[in-house]
Amino acid sequence: MKILIVGGAGYIGSHVAREFLDQGHNVVVFDNLNTGDRANIFPDSSLVHGDILDYPAVLAAMRGMDAVVHLAAAKAVGESMANPEKYSRNNLVGTINLLNAACEAGVRRFVFSSSAAVYGEPAYLPADEAHPTNPENYYGFTKLEIERILAWYDKLKGIRFAALRYFNAAGYDAKGRIPGLERNPANLIPLVMEAACGLRPELQIFGDDWDTPDGTCVRDYVHVSDLARGHVAALDWIGGHEKSLVVNLGSETGISVKQIVDCARKVTGRTIPARVVGRRAGDPAQLVASSALAKKELGWAARESDVENLVRSSWDAYVRAGLTGK
Ligand code: UFG
Repeated sequence: MKILIVGGAGYIGSHVAREFLDQGHNVVVFDNLNTGDRANIFPDSSLVHGDILDYPAVLAAMRGMDAVVHLAAAKAVGESMANPEKYSRNNLVGTINLLNAACEAGVRRFVFSSSAAVYGEPAYLPADEAHPTNPENYYGFTKLEIERILAWYDKLKGIRFAALRYFNAAGYDAKGRIPGLERNPANLIPLVMEAACGLRPELQIFGDDWDTPDGTCVRDYVHVSDLARGHVAALDWIGGHEKSLVVNLGSETGISVKQIVDCARKVTGRTIPARVVGRRAGDPAQLVASSALAKKELGWAARESDVENLVRSSWDAYVRAGLTGK
């Protein structure tokens, strides 16, 4: 199939593009390269350098495609609360442009990067897709709102979509095929890597007095290569079933902040200075997925998401990028 991967030069998008290429698909990446990296455009794909807010450019890129995979979004939770306008524009308006262009160009299959942020404070764990959706930040709200718009476009325009609710995406391609590291990362594992490299003086641990086994927060970290396989499986599913799907992609395993830091010290051989500071506003103590639906419908389960793989594949990427100093 001919697939337009929007945001395909970015951190998750480049892994997704690689997986579609490996499965024999034809890939065109559409990316404004604001956070994506030109180095992540593979020789067996091509790049349309454009912005999702530019409707004519989106429509031109959409024509002749069989499916669109949409990963282009702003994703910093804290920033979304300080600058909701940016998230309204990029995430909401940008996605509406893509959807309208898909309708106009007759592209009826749409895979969308959603997020576990749609759930908000967990009412029970593991969180399955029936868990109430009460996003606690504007970023999560944009993802939920897009899921709702998608459901309407399914009903009204025959767009079949898969909304993939990612848990904590982490790790890098184990074969080292993604050269461009995420710039200005804000998530735990890259911050741990930066502390290991001496690029930041220390890691701040946001609280060790949580109601968890070791007192630090627990999350469901899912390897980006596992996520990438989930996109291919989801697109196959839409084609086979002619209906839409909202599904969690998580490892179903809780890993604490402390476990990640300990593992990173072992893998990197570095001290990694870490200091416990106060809790971060809006953090739940634990968030872990049920991925039973993905298993049942997509035959998907995380394979590369154990803590060692997440940390080692990240460290290897920092080594390859020449960032590890010493
Ligand atoms: N953490 C620290 N120190 C840091 C950064 C993070 O202790 O410097 C802790 C956080 O408190 C949290 C864990 O590490 O317990 C993971 O934090 P991240 O900021 O990496 O990720 P979040 O769990 O806050 O959120 C992530 C994505 C969201 C997504 C959510 C879904 O950033 O986009 O997962 O589960 F919605």
